[in-house]
Amino acid sequence: MLIRRAPMFKASEITDYRLYLNRRQFMRGAATLALAPRVAIAGETTGVPAGKALSATKSETFRVADRPTPFKDATTYNNFYEFGMDKEDPARYAHMLKPRPWSVQVDGLVHKPKRFDIEDILRFPQEERVYALRCVEAWSMVIPWIGFPLADLLGQVEPMGAAKFVAFTTLKDPEQFPGQKPNFFGGSAVEWPYVEGLRLDEAMHPLTLVTVGMYGQVLPNQNGAPIRIVVPWKYGFKSAKSIVRIQLTQEQPKTAWEKAAPQEYGFYSNVNPSVDHPRWSQATERRIGEFMRRKTLMFNGYADQVASLYAGMDLKKNY
Ligand code: MTE
Repeated sequence: MLIRRAPMFKASEITDYRLYLNRRQFMRGAATLALAPRVAIAGETTGVPAGKALSATKSETFRVADRPTPFKDATTYNNFYEFGMDKEDPARYAHMLKPRPWSVQVDGLVHKPKRFDIEDILRFPQEERVYALRCVEAWSMVIPWIGFPLADLLGQVEPMGAAKFVAFTTLKDPEQFPGQKPNFFGGSAVEWPYVEGLRLDEAMHPLTLVTVGMYGQVLPNQNGAPIRIVVPWKYGFKSAKSIVRIQLTQEQPKTAWEKAAPQEYGFYSNVNPSVDHPRWSQATERRIGEFMRRKTLMFNGYADQVASLYAGMDLKKNY
């Protein structure tokens, strides 16, 4: 998620997985000589027991057959710019985020606005769904997420007829998110708070998941604890982490990435192998843990379920 206007970055600087592995090996060696960056274990200092188990019914319907990405990779190679722009920053600084107490305000164009405590959220029947998450940087992971359809949550607040969009807002607190500090080393790529959005019909689609866990446990902080969204047919940046507000609106929300680089990151951002990013191809991807690149599938493999949402739309224009 690098942007064209930042002169300090080049497309070639997007961390390739091989490079990342080499760097990890180097760091492992360096750790014996100097202070290694501390990789926090979720919950170490946050009041949520580290790796606390979370039970969920395994979904037979929502389950890609591919082997899940190793937990270690899914929790140490992340995009979460609130912790910094390096792939290792989220794991390094994750211990600063306190996922309890936590609540999510659901409001805007709804009949029954409500603040849901995380305990209320955890009372929804949780399901384990195995989705691939395709990052816009042309890599992907397969993750057994735990959550429930966003439609179930929105049903409780009763959207008004005028509601057309849903905006998701991540916590803004530089004390917990060092990447939000104005003087953070490396600067910020986006304006805080991080805001993402969906059209209401996308938000109500059964694939769109309110997510509270992964790999049988509560979400690690670096993956968006305690509550995030996962939208598997869109590029990963649409899946906002650590959210505190869900607002229903009439107007299309201005998202953080659209504000930062509108020519590169559109509102829709559906996974589409035939619409390239201005600086790289989206035709193939590197599945973390695999050596060969694989072809990217239209809508990340969910065309049968979601293509009808975009009937008649020019997906090159609405990227
Ligand atoms: N949400 C917030 N608040 N901040 C971010 O920087 N990064 C996005 C998305 N959600 C991001 C975010 C991007 S670019 C991706 S690819 C996914 O989170 C990565 O999710 P993961 O680290 O759990 O794999």
